[in-house]
Amino acid sequence: MASIFVTRQVPQRGIEILQSAGHEVRVYPKDQIIEREEFLEGVQGADALLCMLTEKIDAELLERAGSQLKVVANLAVGYDNINLETAKERGVVVTNTPGVLTDAVAEHAFGLILALAHRIVAGDAFFRAGKYKGWEPMLLLGHSLAGKTLGIVGLGRIGSRVVHHAVRGFDMNVVYYDLQPSGELEQTYHAVYKPRVEDVLAEADYVSLHVPLTDQTRHLMNAERLRLMKPTSYLINTSRGPVIDEAALVEALKGGIIKGAALDVFEHEPEAAPGLKELDNVVLTPHIASATEEARTQMAVMAAENIVAVLQGKAALNPVN
Ligand code: GLV
Ligand code: GLV
Repeated sequence: MASIFVTRQVPQRGIEILQSAGHEVRVYPKDQIIEREEFLEGVQGADALLCMLTEKIDAELLERAGSQLKVVANLAVGYDNINLETAKERGVVVTNTPGVLTDAVAEHAFGLILALAHRIVAGDAFFRAGKYKGWEPMLLLGHSLAGKTLGIVGLGRIGSRVVHHAVRGFDMNVVYYDLQPSGELEQTYHAVYKPRVEDVLAEADYVSLHVPLTDQTRHLMNAERLRLMKPTSYLINTSRGPVIDEAALVEALKGGIIKGAALDVFEHEPEAAPGLKELDNVVLTPHIASATEEARTQMAVMAAENIVAVLQGKAALNPVN
C-alpha cells in the first residue's frame, strides 16, 4: 500500500480512483492553499503527490518528501510551478492534465473576447448601479466580431480551439504566431502564420495568449510589444500571468496604447498590479478558465490515473519530464 498526499480537496472521482487502487490517501483538510510549512510536513513519506499549480515543487520540497517519492501529478496543464530538472534527477515522474481542459479554457477565452466586444461586464455594472433609463442609440457601444482579426500567440491545443470558435462561430480572420506554422490549421481555418509575434500584434484586433510560462515567454508582452498593438485592440490572457508585464499593461491601458484587456491570470496571484482593478476597460476573472465541473472532474481523474499507473510500475500516461 502506497501513501498518496493530495494538497487540496479535488473532485471525489479522483480520490476514489486512488482509494480503489488500494492506496492510503491523505487529503489536506483545509479549504485554502496549503501553507508551505504544512506542505513540507505533509509530503514526508509520500510515494505520490497530487498537487496544485499554486504550490512550488522545488528541490527542498522533493528532498523533504523522501527518496520513495515516485510521482508528482499536477492538477493543471501548465507545470511552471515544478522544478522538472530536480524531479528528473531524483527519478520522480511529473505529469499534467492535457486535453481534458482544452474546451473549458478555449470557451473561457472566447467568453472574455465576447465580454470585451459586447461590453457585457460594463453593461451589468451599469444596470446594477441603477443607471439604465431606457433604450438609447448610443448606449455602451461595443464592436461586432465578424470580419475582425483575432491574433493567437501560441497555437497549441487551446489556441487551436480558440481559432475554431473564432472562424466557425464568429466569421473572424485569424493570424497566429508559434515556433512552427501549422499546415492543418491554415488549410482548415485559413489562419495566417506570422513568423514574428510582433506581426501578430500589429495586425490583430484581439490578441489572445496561449503559451506556457517559460524563461522565453516571461514578460513576452512588455511595454515595447504592447506599443505594437493597435490603439483599438484588446489583449486577452488565459495562460499564465507572468507572460504579461502587468505594470506595463496598466500603463498601456491608462495611456490608450490599447483599448482594453481581459485577464484570467495575474502576475502575482492573487494580487493584481496597482491600478488594474480601478480601470474600467478591463474584465478580470479569478483563474477560473478551466473551472467547469466537466473539466475539473476529468483533471482529477487524469491526475489520479497517472499516479496509479506509476505506482503500479507502468509508464505515466501524461509525463512532462
Ligand atoms: C490551469 O491554469 C492549468 O494550467 O491547468
Ligand atoms: C495546452 O493544453 C495547450 O496546448 O494549449
